[in-house]
Amino acid sequence: MFKKILCAVDGSEHSLRAAEAASELAQKFGGTLTLLTVAKPVTLTPRLKEFFKEESLMGEATYVLEPMTEGVLNEAKKRAQAKGTAKVEAVVLEGHPARTIVDFVRRNKIDCAVLGSRGQGDMEATLLGSVSHKVSSLANCTVVIVK
Ligand SMILES: Nc1ncnc2c1ncn2[C@@H]1O[C@H](COP(=O)(O)OP(=O)(O)OP(=O)(O)O)[C@@H](O)[C@H]1O
Ligand SMILES: [Mg+2]
Repeated sequence: MFKKILCAVDGSEHSLRAAEAASELAQKFGGTLTLLTVAKPVTLTPRLKEFFKEESLMGEATYVLEPMTEGVLNEAKKRAQAKGTAKVEAVVLEGHPARTIVDFVRRNKIDCAVLGSRGQGDMEATLLGSVSHKVSSLANCTVVIVK
């Protein structure tokens, strides 16, 4: 039923638990697991841009990805692999988190998207974060919210 499984990770403990659950689902259904993190572009000042160019760290881009991104994906990958799915693909995209996740689901024909109920924000007042709320409403696939 769920052949293509996506887990959206933002580095929060909730999203790492989501990665574990997604890994178990992938195992049960013999499906593939993709981890996706959406990084906010960080706008650079002209001087910093020059610096990065001189150091050949980037091309013409006016932004860099949040430095946390790689660590977030590596940690999620470890947690997912510990639950049994050996082959885990990791993807980084830039943009608005909910919109980017919903687009990714549509473009890649994802069958099931797994998210944590909360993320880095983790305010106690509400049950669901804005990203999990928007993705569960707008994605054209089954959405699993891990508490
Ligand atoms: N930038 C992101 N990239 C990938 N997945 C994300 C991202 N942000 C949130 N998520 C996913 O959505 C889940 C819920 O996080 P969400 O951001 O909705 O809650 P929050 O941070 O507690 O609240 P808010 O961001 O609304 O203040 C996370 O556990 C994760 O699965
Ligand atoms: Mg958040």
